[in-house]
Amino acid sequence: MNVGILTSGGDCAGLNAIMHGFVKTMSAIDPKLEIYGVKNGYTGLINREYRKVKCEEFDGILNLGGTILGTSRQPYKKLILPEGQEKVALMKENYRKMALDCLLVLGGQGTHKTAGLLSKEGLNIIGLPKTIDNDIYGTDFTFGFHSAVNIAAECLDRIRTTAASHGRTFLVEIMGNRVGWLTLYSGIAGDADIILIPEIPYDIEKVIKQAQKVNEKKGYCIIAAAEGALNTEEAQMSKRERYGKREERGEVTASNRIAAAISKSLNVETRVMVPGYTQRGGNPSAYDRIICTQMGAYAAKLAKAKKFGVSVAMNGLKITHNNLSDIAGATKFVTKDSELVLAARDVGITFGD
Ligand code: F6P
Repeated sequence: MNVGILTSGGDCAGLNAIMHGFVKTMSAIDPKLEIYGVKNGYTGLINREYRKVKCEEFDGILNLGGTILGTSRQPYKKLILPEGQEKVALMKENYRKMALDCLLVLGGQGTHKTAGLLSKEGLNIIGLPKTIDNDIYGTDFTFGFHSAVNIAAECLDRIRTTAASHGRTFLVEIMGNRVGWLTLYSGIAGDADIILIPEIPYDIEKVIKQAQKVNEKKGYCIIAAAEGALNTEEAQMSKRERYGKREERGEVTASNRIAAAISKSLNVETRVMVPGYTQRGGNPSAYDRIICTQMGAYAAKLAKAKKFGVSVAMNGLKITHNNLSDIAGATKFVTKDSELVLAARDVGITFGD
């Protein structure tokens, strides 16, 4: 069997681990397996950047962060090609040049959207759900998410001791532009006092009031805020309007504005900490290595059964799959009645609403 693999979109821990799981299982199923590694995601598939990768090259990468194939985050619409060339046609042409029986696509939402399109065009596609944002519809967890939760929670732990020593209020800005899963999970694990996520717009007065209460009780306060956190006023605006207003004020995220408002009202020392891309880097957690192994092995079995046009998913503790036509491009948001939001409220965490 000839299998192409590409990794696309922002990287995360677990991309190599899942390829490891797939290749180990697939090569045992089919000793004649040929792997084509496509470089830098869809860009490589369009530009004919691929090579045969020996199965042995996937040895020893279970615990290695990043992706040995390289990735690119090139919004599909923005991929500009020379006059007369067409993206889908080039991808189909290169798929045929490699004589692929199937193409394994490791990526997040945008990647899945394109995967759905290629599948509709008749290519044999199997998707694998990657992202630290955990926002792919139809799967309880994406790989890379738990590793990022561990990192962000550790940041909150480390910030707590320095915040306590200095009696400061800290706002830790956690990745997640449109969805707050990473902030919610790591905020709970890292014992944050206040969690701010895009799905639950905050009222700054309520955030300040809560920060005051916490400061009075403990002498310091920890806020976990998603990079996409927005206030009730911003929640009424279109994305364009919101970004426009922020640009006028010289802001990218709301973090510094929130911290400044707290500092001004409460007269407490306030600091912002942004772990940023460390949440995507480094080795996968043990749990991610395990689900990557399960998901990679499952993908090999899908390939063997010629079950294409699907994406691997996790439902409860079970590894399963969804049809790309049902999930490609759909987002899984946190809802106000998510069990985890309720559990967070139970233990006294507030959301600024
Ligand atoms: O999708 C993962 C993610 O890390 C988001 O949480 C974040 O908003 C975005 O990628 C950053 O993207 P880029 O790598 O393009 O800066």
